Amino acid sequence: MSSVTGVYLPTMDPKARIEELREALHAHNHSYYVLASPTISDREFDALLEELANLESHHPEWADPNSPTCRVGGDLTDKFDKVAHKSPMLSLSNSYSVEEVSLWAQRVQDGLPDEKVEFAMELKYDGVAISLWYEGGVLVRALTRGDGSLGEDVRSNVATIPTVPLRLMPGSPEVLEIRGEIFFPWEGFNALNDSRAEAGEAEFANPRNTAAGTLKLQDSKEVARRPLDCMIYNVDAATMTGLGVLTHADAVKEAARWGFKVPGGRSLEVAGSIEEVMAFVDHWETARHDLPFAIDGIVIKVNRYDHQRRLGMTAKSPRWAIAYKFETERACTKLVDVEYQVGRTGAVTPVAKLQAVQLGGTTVKNASLHNADQIAKLGLRLGDMVFVEKGGEIIPKIVGVDTSASHEEGLFAPPALEFPSVCPECETPLVRAQDEAQHYCPNAVACPAQVRGRIIHFISRKAMNVEGLGKETVAQLVAAGLVRDAADLYDLRAEDLLPLERMAQKSVDNLLAGLVQSKTVPFERVLFGLGIRHVGETVAKQLARSLGHIGAFKSISVEELVALEEVGPVIADSVVAHFSDPNFERMVNRLVASGLQMEAVVQAPLGHALEGEVIVVSGVFSTMSRDEAKTSVVAHGGRLASSISSKTTLILAGENMGPAKLKKAQSLGIPIMDEASFVSRISGQE
Ligand code: IVH
Repeated sequence: MSSVTGVYLPTMDPKARIEELREALHAHNHSYYVLASPTISDREFDALLEELANLESHHPEWADPNSPTCRVGGDLTDKFDKVAHKSPMLSLSNSYSVEEVSLWAQRVQDGLPDEKVEFAMELKYDGVAISLWYEGGVLVRALTRGDGSLGEDVRSNVATIPTVPLRLMPGSPEVLEIRGEIFFPWEGFNALNDSRAEAGEAEFANPRNTAAGTLKLQDSKEVARRPLDCMIYNVDAATMTGLGVLTHADAVKEAARWGFKVPGGRSLEVAGSIEEVMAFVDHWETARHDLPFAIDGIVIKVNRYDHQRRLGMTAKSPRWAIAYKFETERACTKLVDVEYQVGRTGAVTPVAKLQAVQLGGTTVKNASLHNADQIAKLGLRLGDMVFVEKGGEIIPKIVGVDTSASHEEGLFAPPALEFPSVCPECETPLVRAQDEAQHYCPNAVACPAQVRGRIIHFISRKAMNVEGLGKETVAQLVAAGLVRDAADLYDLRAEDLLPLERMAQKSVDNLLAGLVQSKTVPFERVLFGLGIRHVGETVAKQLARSLGHIGAFKSISVEELVALEEVGPVIADSVVAHFSDPNFERMVNRLVASGLQMEAVVQAPLGHALEGEVIVVSGVFSTMSRDEAKTSVVAHGGRLASSISSKTTLILAGENMGPAKLKKAQSLGIPIMDEASFVSRISGQE
């Protein structure tokens, strides 16, 4: 259909066009994410999606929570409804050895005398279980496991996951409950951690907990930014039998036809003997390291539904399935040294340096030691033989000491390691906040490690992206006393740099050119580069858009910040603390004087009609999308707030503004402005 692949016929009935676009986008989405074989380019896809979003914003009467536009996440959720599962969400009994699996297979055979038993084998995804409910082919609920009988409906968050169909393919059952696992593939997980590290935030420990935490986030827009995935592993047996599908493996194939992502290739196989089952286990024991996501075992299921029914279940788990859990990989090696690394926020992290050892398919030389308590608990000494595990974590950790191989007590035994009392870089006594496990170096201004860390963050790719300047050069500049903060970079002259080691004329030219070039980097990235704790890329973008220019940050209060979109008290406190620190302020002023971009581009030229107003935008508009309305507010000097409070000075209300909001606005006496008055006000007619 040419009209769906890009050529829009403007005369077309908008309702029909909306339907057509939704249909087409669902299909493209399925090809891209589930089948991994795109049918159109990203650009074309985005164009269609934008067209649909535009039409939907003009026609709220045809809104559909299952529209492909809902993948980007929507409004904030206060809490999730608790809903009873259609049947209890059981867990699996675990096994850890060939013997245990064989014993289980024997029990299965005993329960089905004279039957030829077939086993379906698949991967045990290391994520969180989800129960998806469809009615009339549309996703109506997505329940977490909860306590097994009562789950939480996290549909708004699950709807952002591209491999969860919002609408099923034609020919799917009218009513369907289907279960699977939501997980965080390594690539996205590592990228999320990188950006958290850049924002000075604690990194997540493993993909499983992060997937679980993400599903419970109140802001589905944040969920949409995290690339979760979903794999189906269980279709309701009664539904399938009713459709004439008699085995688990066939049911999974059927689910693929309805639009779900299901295991393919060697990740779902059927076996007739326990030997074949063990061959499957053996294969994945090593092959799992090449998977793009984490698995923690293999699940073995009796394939035929009639067999499953005859075997039944115990109170906790079905008798027809068992999980074979991989052993947590563990190696034993020598602790050679412990390095104490000081981050840009001053946090001191101990890192164990190990004699290289093979673990889970990679060579391990470093392991995390978390904090002082852990070192003390393990009673570590240099030279100890230590056990290292990889578990679900990406960075291996030390879990114990092989005491049989450790030092004899006596004159030459090294003493137990002690956490340093002073900063390894600047010798300032370390501090440890009450109830916190982390030690900090309080010398934020002059500690070379912190200075280096802040500058490295400032010049990084996602911030100022200064070409010709790398970590080593930053270390050189700091050591030579040429640079103490980001602002010093812009005062560097060729004659300062040339005497430095490895600094030829060409490198100097490149570095200085990179700095000049960085002055064109937009305000939001400058703001991110300032390294304000908890202000990552996204928050920086949001703040830049809401406040417009650097001057606004200097005078804003915690209360005013909290009223802004996507800003909570932790971020607000951190922003205010930074801007009231004289050193930080001085640095910012010098950066302003050096000519960096300190104003958000959108705000600059349009006008001041809304200056001084704190505006909540609500409802649907006829001449613009809600996002466009928000952009206009900022562009005319107004400030955006996400919820109505006593600080709100004006509500910009489109159609369908919720009655609760209306009541609140009225009770606080806040004026409400409709779309037409808004347009005349910003165009200067009022
Ligand atoms: S079957 C009746 N298959 O492991 C049990 N579970 O304790 C139905 N899991 O909560 C579960 N991969 O979240 C099944 N291929 C797979 C699985 C799988 C991961 C999870 C699931 C369940 C837990 C079992």
